[in-house]
Amino acid sequence: MSLFNLNPKESPNELFGREKELEELIRLIKARRWIAVLGPRMVGKTSLLKVANTKLEKAKIKTVYTNLWGAKATNGLLKALARGLNDEKSLLQKIKDAAKRIEGVSIGSGGIAISVSKKPMTTIWDLLETIGNQAGDCVIELDEVQELAAISGRLLKLLANIFNTHPNIVFVFTGSMFGLMKTLLEPGASSPLYGRSPAKLYLQPFEKELAQQFLQKGFKEYNLTIKDEIVNEVVERLDGIPGWLTLYGNNVAVRKLPHKKALEETLSEGTKIVKDELEHFLEGRDRQAYLAALKAAATPARWTEIKGAVEIAKASTVNDATVYRILENLKAAMIIQEKENVYRVDDPMLRTLLLTSQVT
Ligand SMILES: Nc1ncnc2c1ncn2[C@@H]1O[C@H](COP(=O)(O)OP(=O)(O)OP(=O)(O)O)[C@@H](O)[C@H]1O
Ligand SMILES: [Mg+2]
Repeated sequence: MSLFNLNPKESPNELFGREKELEELIRLIKARRWIAVLGPRMVGKTSLLKVANTKLEKAKIKTVYTNLWGAKATNGLLKALARGLNDEKSLLQKIKDAAKRIEGVSIGSGGIAISVSKKPMTTIWDLLETIGNQAGDCVIELDEVQELAAISGRLLKLLANIFNTHPNIVFVFTGSMFGLMKTLLEPGASSPLYGRSPAKLYLQPFEKELAQQFLQKGFKEYNLTIKDEIVNEVVERLDGIPGWLTLYGNNVAVRKLPHKKALEETLSEGTKIVKDELEHFLEGRDRQAYLAALKAAATPARWTEIKGAVEIAKASTVNDATVYRILENLKAAMIIQEKENVYRVDDPMLRTLLLTSQVT
């Protein structure tokens, strides 16, 4: 066991400082509530789900974890679901006789295999029906659910159907960019999920003191001591985000890098990840306008300041509706945060990236 292990944690004694959140997640699942686990990148969303699964399995509740990263369309969702089912042998055992009659599904030694299905959404529905009918209480987790934004209309309909017909299936959603999460979380009157929005569970970065304890405990596992001033610097620069603290700790304790270099590498690794994600977000959008708004918010800034920055970037007047839409999209993607009309960028990596002109 090690706190500085870079994979998502799975065992309860590897998860630091999340007792309350873990208890709450399990309570909601047992109450058959649908849940969205929310929080910034690297805050520990996947770890929370995986540790909860370890505990739920002990309570005989079946859990299916799906990682949707890279799953662009329905076929990707189907494959991810099959992988998740194959990892949950006791559930697989219960459904396999019924599942092999589903079109597009076969059962082999490794569990469920999916042939290229002409109607993957129907196959998904049939699988979920089978689970609903045969499996008892069961949790299906969709991690990186933003990847399904392109099929959100059909996905929401499917989910609404499950909600109505199979109360024993609980869905948990999480992910890092929230375009789809918003339609899940705040379904409008025309959404099939209207009136059934999931409970929200927020994961915050560690408070200063908890972040300090995390580092100290992690170093102790390697019989290393770390000076208070270094702990303070690291916590400050990495804003108490568990994933970045973990990476720093791993750089020092496992890779044996000196403090300065370890921190530098953590920041540059973080910046790289953030940069990729930002580029992904900017595809197909007005890059100049979005970047101007973002750079302004990084300082942070008020609405009028942001509007001014966008106008300078575009070298023309820009109407309020355009600025409003840009800010709404950035908020929905959790890239910026707003409080009392002040817009800011909470993610320390993204802030550094924007303020040092590494994206243009
Ligand atoms: N509470 C915690 N205790 C110990 N380690 C943690 C904790 N939270 C996160 N970590 C570590 O931080 C890193 C990121 O965690 P995880 O992948 O669970 O976060 P995430 O929010 O799902 O990230 P992403 O946004 O990249 O999906 C991993 O190395 C994980 O082991
Ligand atoms: Mg994750």
